[in-house]
Amino acid sequence: MLEVKNLHATIAGKEILRGINLTIKDGEIHAIMGPNGSGKSTLSAVLTGNPLYEVTEGEAIFNGKNLIEMKPEDRAHEGLFLSFQYPVEIPGVSMTNFLKAAVNEKRKYQGLPELKAGEFLKLMNEKRKIVELDSKFTRRSVNEGFSGGEKKRNEIFQMAMLEPKLAILDETDSGLDVDAMRIVADGVNKMHTPETSAIVITHYERLLDMIKPDVVHVLYKGRIVKTAGPELAKEIEQRGYDWIKAEVEEF
Ligand SMILES: Nc1ncnc2c1ncn2[C@@H]1O[C@H](COP(=O)(O)OP(=O)(O)OP(=O)(O)O)[C@@H](O)[C@H]1O
Ligand SMILES: [Mg+2]
Repeated sequence: MLEVKNLHATIAGKEILRGINLTIKDGEIHAIMGPNGSGKSTLSAVLTGNPLYEVTEGEAIFNGKNLIEMKPEDRAHEGLFLSFQYPVEIPGVSMTNFLKAAVNEKRKYQGLPELKAGEFLKLMNEKRKIVELDSKFTRRSVNEGFSGGEKKRNEIFQMAMLEPKLAILDETDSGLDVDAMRIVADGVNKMHTPETSAIVITHYERLLDMIKPDVVHVLYKGRIVKTAGPELAKEIEQRGYDWIKAEVEEF
């Protein structure tokens, strides 16, 4: 699915990613944890093609294609999806029209015909139920005036509509109440298939109790410094990061 090798990236001349190595196989869920400012959001921004970041070294191969050379929209059309830590608002564009454009652009890229209005509405109603999103949201402008939790839930709905091969969820749990977190996690689990993968970026083990990762990584100072199974998330919950930082400094 995804193979990242020795990836280095800078923003405004400052190196943030300092040699990331990461292999994700079809069907796997990987969690990325790590202290604030370690580069987690940067990694997701670089993978999805945020032009603010410059890749200075290394590569990222997504289903055989070189991601770094692709336009951000083509990365999305190839099946990469990023749910933002801070979702953006798009005033004046309804959710329905926004999603219709996104879904049909992807279909065009895949050589498929546009969905008819009826087909699109049917798809939207089906996917809306996955995250228990009220239909009134689809008539509103994208994220405008949505509460933090509503934005997050809405992002998972967008993800369901686009059926990505690899979904990157950047702190989807932050700002969600317990019930909303359960709904979002259930949504992610329902969409997960043996052919799709996910990267879940989170600070809290409780989300990983709901979305069970196969692998847990710790990112620190722009590098993955520890990789283990789900038990690592539990250990971090109990012990924090100091012991991992100490290991790195010693090394
Ligand atoms: N425009 C910028 N100019 C300079 N430094 C930046 C810029 N954008 C991000 N950084 C720095 O890059 C580092 C990594 O930030 P990033 O958002 O990737 O961290 P994170 O691991 O996602 O943290 P958090 O857990 O708080 O979300 C931080 O030190 C941040 O200040
Ligand atoms: Mg972040």
